[in-house]
Amino acid sequence: MAHKESIHGRWSSRWVFILAAVGSAVGLGNIWKFPYLAGENGGGAFVLLYLFCIMVIGVPAMMAEIMLGRRGRQSPINTMHTLAIESGHRPMWQWLGFMGMVAGFIILSYYSVIAGWSIAYLFQSGTGKFSGQTVDGVNAIFDKFINDPEKLLLYHTVFMAMTMFVVMRGVKSGLETAVKFLVPALFILLIVLVGYAMNTSKFVEGLEFLFKPDFSKLTFSVVITAIGQAFFTLSLGMGAIMVYGSYLSKKTSIIKTTFAIAGADTLVAILAGIAIFPIVFENGLDPTGGPGLVFVTMTLAFGKMPAGDFFATLFFTLLTLAAWTSSISILEPVVTYLVENKGFKRATAALITGVFTWLLGIVTVLSFNVWKFSFSFAGDRKDYGMFDILDIIAANIMLPLGVMLIGIFAGWFMSREASRDELDLGDSRIYEVWRFLVRYVTPTAIFLVLLKLLGVLDSITKAVMNMFAF
Ligand code: TRP
Repeated sequence: MAHKESIHGRWSSRWVFILAAVGSAVGLGNIWKFPYLAGENGGGAFVLLYLFCIMVIGVPAMMAEIMLGRRGRQSPINTMHTLAIESGHRPMWQWLGFMGMVAGFIILSYYSVIAGWSIAYLFQSGTGKFSGQTVDGVNAIFDKFINDPEKLLLYHTVFMAMTMFVVMRGVKSGLETAVKFLVPALFILLIVLVGYAMNTSKFVEGLEFLFKPDFSKLTFSVVITAIGQAFFTLSLGMGAIMVYGSYLSKKTSIIKTTFAIAGADTLVAILAGIAIFPIVFENGLDPTGGPGLVFVTMTLAFGKMPAGDFFATLFFTLLTLAAWTSSISILEPVVTYLVENKGFKRATAALITGVFTWLLGIVTVLSFNVWKFSFSFAGDRKDYGMFDILDIIAANIMLPLGVMLIGIFAGWFMSREASRDELDLGDSRIYEVWRFLVRYVTPTAIFLVLLKLLGVLDSITKAVMNMFAF
């Protein structure tokens, strides 16, 4: 039988849950990753597909994840174990929780390195390093920075320590205050930046790049990147939202909170895109510039703005905080598991997982300088580092796999009564739509994409075609 309350605590209100979940969702994924992926993947068509994935796969999957968490009331591994048994199935489903832990471990390892960039930029802005810089100037500063492994390591260490600190103390206490202030402040600053972008000569061009789809650019690698990004940005597929759901009161409406979280998250990503691309085009920067995009464009813009140093410091402070409220949600599932099953104290669990994640992060630190190479992924050849490999494995393969299995479990293995009761939607149309989406659409879509990724789909298509050919 499912527990009534999680042993790790409970959110004090629905509002706190929304803030915490928004804090988890809104992070580097929105402001750093979304713009550079949109840039690398040709803009409009990618953005449209990404929005489509959020609505059709992401929202129902988030409802499913929150629902499973609240019903199981434990770490993802134990939640899946309990729920599988509750619905008369084998406890094997707990492996979904293990996969999530591994995905989270990988994601946090590089997430922390990039968040470290934000901390470094925060200090640089504070000393006025960017004011009046040219395009070449900001590019040179960025290149010099990422070619300095010791610096990257230092800031990665600082960020990882910050993450461990919060998780050691329990997610709730630090989070409430941080997020209440952070999310509104981030919105306001993004709107200021959009205002700046509106006054550039290339505002319309930027909007067109983002929103005018050119479907000839829709290659397979764009499809898989858009799906992965939809899950990454909503924190889905590895149990982070499941754990947060396990602290949620039974009275809260899952569907309303899901829309609030997904809406806020999407808005932040789109605002970041609108702020960045006009600046990219006005200054002749390369939209396919990769992970450095937001750092280069924003510092350039701040450098030209009145009170730019102040705004730059504020921007990177908020970006760091946004990354912080996300990273703690990645660490939390592992920590709850170690506390429940291995009898660790919360502080010890956070310390140990943090140290291992920190170690893996060194791979990413080195991947921007000494460890670069080139290979082709999903038909696209480009220069990669170990960072890209970790990102592809975790975000583009493991998260979709996790979301697919969550959909299958919630749609096929959990009884209709159980999910209807937990979602509290009665016999409504909405419930039927949700169930249809998680039963059929989510697993099929992801399955096809993963098959194609493995190259299996192409051979099956060919084999079938051959059967009918004369
Ligand atoms: N969603 C966060 C962002 O956009 C990152 C994140 C937090 C995450 N928790 C996660 C990504 C769980 C995948 C899975 O920055």
